[in-house]
Amino acid sequence: MERKIIRARLLSFLREPLSPEDRDSFRYIEDGGLLIEDGIIRAFDEFTNLDAAGAEVIDHRPYLVMPGFIDTHLHFPQTQVIASWAAQLLDWLNDYTFPEETRYSDPAFCAVMARAFLDLLAAHGTTTAVAYASVHAASAEALFAEALARNMRLITGKVMMDRNAPDGLRDTAQTGYDDTKRLIARWHGKGRLGYAITPRFAITSTPAQMEAAQALAAEHPDCHIQTHLSENHAEIALSCELYPDAVDYTDIYARYGLLRENSLLGHAIHLSDREIGALAEAGAKPVFCPTSNLYLGSGLFDDAKLRGAGLVNAIATDIGGGTSYSMLTTLAEGYKVLQLQGQRMHPYRAFHWITRGNAVALGLEGRIGTLEAGSEADLVVLNAEATPAMALRMARARGLMDELFTLQVMGDDRAVVQTYVAGVGRK
Ligand code: GUN
Ligand code: ZN
Repeated sequence: MERKIIRARLLSFLREPLSPEDRDSFRYIEDGGLLIEDGIIRAFDEFTNLDAAGAEVIDHRPYLVMPGFIDTHLHFPQTQVIASWAAQLLDWLNDYTFPEETRYSDPAFCAVMARAFLDLLAAHGTTTAVAYASVHAASAEALFAEALARNMRLITGKVMMDRNAPDGLRDTAQTGYDDTKRLIARWHGKGRLGYAITPRFAITSTPAQMEAAQALAAEHPDCHIQTHLSENHAEIALSCELYPDAVDYTDIYARYGLLRENSLLGHAIHLSDREIGALAEAGAKPVFCPTSNLYLGSGLFDDAKLRGAGLVNAIATDIGGGTSYSMLTTLAEGYKVLQLQGQRMHPYRAFHWITRGNAVALGLEGRIGTLEAGSEADLVVLNAEATPAMALRMARARGLMDELFTLQVMGDDRAVVQTYVAGVGRK
């Protein structure tokens, strides 16, 4: 049995912090130790309280160790779409993103890109990802295989899309169903992998395909469902035109049984009160994608309003509409999006969100998102003085909250010293 102790300053949240004063919401240990056996955290305590017999001790002092970051919405086949010169969502999809995704029909190319993609996530401190693959089963196969080889927790699914997309990027209602079914049988629950049934969005699925997605969802209640909702005004108008019987965009997904507690709805920006109520009733999870929403000019996610309606929001990069793999940069841009609406994201809440908060949104709390004994040993080691500018700022820091806010506002992959996936160093 492999035994390892990580010695560092340790921070882990017990629940969502209510305010910047809510220090009971987390455990912070100045000279802490994590005892890890076979990829699982067995103890989270003062270093001096741990039994170090037979254990390799890795000393990360003075750095801060937290649970690895969780990215709840990004696109595997869009690593080379980032920074494409497009106006807004539909032009960006048609002119850059769809042509790029056609390249993922080639399994050898997918295997190369899967390695690059998961290397990038580790370099940015992300240890769990919920990713869209391309329409090709081969792309999901490659990503699952690479994640399994790294013992990484990953949720993905082949995108279902049978219209309004170029040749080479469409399935059919039947092949989308059959490929998804086969992929679920092969990968869902294997190692740390999970399958997300993935109708891309209403515009690219016919009613027949939505029925196929509905059948898959009913047959696999423990699979996640992921799609896009209410990101952009032109997208909303076209979706409602394509589904004239639905009362609004949200109702399209509701009619096909796609709204439930393990449904992840990317963007969810321009929602009516009726739609917010319907999402809350279903327990579906909106996903805030700040860098993408700013980059594509999509709009401002109203976190407070959705939370006020009882929704649990996730947060994500949305690579490649998003512009950074870093969940720290995502927090920085998210902070600004909320500022523009008179809302604030204090650092305790921010770091809870990208760790335990996203785990709760995924229904995976208890496995990931904290450092508590029994959790999987996915960790990120952070240096808030990683750049000269950060070091200067930190010279004036007065404690943990300032350190976290420096990471939140100025941090990116340069602040990530090391990432551990199931106890194994991966950066
Ligand atoms: N809506 C449908 N597909 C996509 C996508 O790939 N990215 C974003 N941002 N929105 C979408
Ligand atoms: Zn997306």
